[in-house]
Amino acid sequence: MTKEVKTEDGSLTLFSEEFKEPYHSITAGAITEAVKKFIEPTGLKGKAKEGKVNLLDSCFGLGYNTLTAVKETLKENPKAEIQVLAFEKDLKVIEKALKILPQELKPYSFILKELLKNKQSYKGFLTLNFVSQRVKIKVFIGEGRKVLRKISPLYKGFADAIFHDPFSPRVNPELWTYEFFLLLRKTIKEEGTLATYSSSTPVRKALYMAGFGVKEGVAIGRKSTSTVASPLFETEPSILKKFSLPSAVPYRDPTLQEPRELIRNRQRWCVKALKRKYRPIPIYHI
Ligand SMILES: C[S@@+](CC[C@H](N)C(=O)[O-])C[C@H]1O[C@@H](n2cnc3c(N)ncnc32)[C@H](O)[C@@H]1O
Repeated sequence: MTKEVKTEDGSLTLFSEEFKEPYHSITAGAITEAVKKFIEPTGLKGKAKEGKVNLLDSCFGLGYNTLTAVKETLKENPKAEIQVLAFEKDLKVIEKALKILPQELKPYSFILKELLKNKQSYKGFLTLNFVSQRVKIKVFIGEGRKVLRKISPLYKGFADAIFHDPFSPRVNPELWTYEFFLLLRKTIKEEGTLATYSSSTPVRKALYMAGFGVKEGVAIGRKSTSTVASPLFETEPSILKKFSLPSAVPYRDPTLQEPRELIRNRQRWCVKALKRKYRPIPIYHI
C-alpha cells in the first residue's frame, strides 16, 4: 500500500510502505527536486543545445524525473533528441503515477500511458517502451542490479547523464554499493555526469572507488548538500579527507545479489571494527 503526500512545491508524491520513505523530497518539492538536484547538476540543458541527450534514469519510480527531463530538453531545444534508459522494480507505481501527475507534467501523461501500453520482452525482462521522432524511452521492469548486470555491456558509454534516485542508503543499500556504482561507471560516458541527492561519505567513497571524481552538489530543501560525480572530475579535497574516517566504509555487495540486511549490517560491522583501538582490517574494506 502507498499513500499520497503533498510536497513543498504543491506536487503530489507517494509514500512507500516497503521502504518507509516518500518517493520524493517533501521539503524540496518533487518537481523542484527533479530540476535542481538532477537536471541542472548533470548539465542536461547544455547537452540538449548540442542536439542529443542520453539519460540513464536509475530508479524510474513515478517517472517524474524522466518526464521533467523530456520537458526541459525539448524546451531548451525543440529539435533535440532524447533517449532514456531506465529501470524500476515496481510496475504498479508507474500506474499510480498517472493518477497524481503534477500539473506541470500533465501534458506528458501520454508518454506514461504509451509506456504502460507498449510492453515488450527484451533480454529476459519486461520492458515498457515509448518511441517518437525525438523521444525514445525504455524502462526495464526488474531488480536494478539484475537489469544493469545484463544490460551494462550493451549500453557501455551510453549516458551523458545519470539520475541516481533510489530510497536512502540506509533502507535501500543494494543500489548504493561500490559494485553497483561499477555498473553505472560502465554505462556513463567519460564526460558524463551522475547526480544524486545523497551526501553520505560511504556513498561518495564508493563512487570514488568505482572510478568517479566526486563533488559537492546543491542543498535544496535541507541543510546537507547533494553529490555530483563524473569520470572527468577531480574529487574535492574536503571530500577526499573524509574517506580515511572509519565511518566512510562503503556499502559492499560482491555478488551483486546479497540481501539488503546483509549489505547494511556488514557496513556497520566494518565501521565498528575500524573504530576499535586494536583493529583488524575487515576484508570488505579495501
Ligand atoms: C525514490 S523512488 C524514485 C522516484 C523517481 N526517480 C521519480 O522521479 O518518480 C525509488 C524507486 O526505486 C525503486 N527501487 C528501489 N529498490 C530497487 C531495486 N533494487 N531495483 C529496482 N528498483 C528499485 C522503488 O520501487 C522506487 O520506485
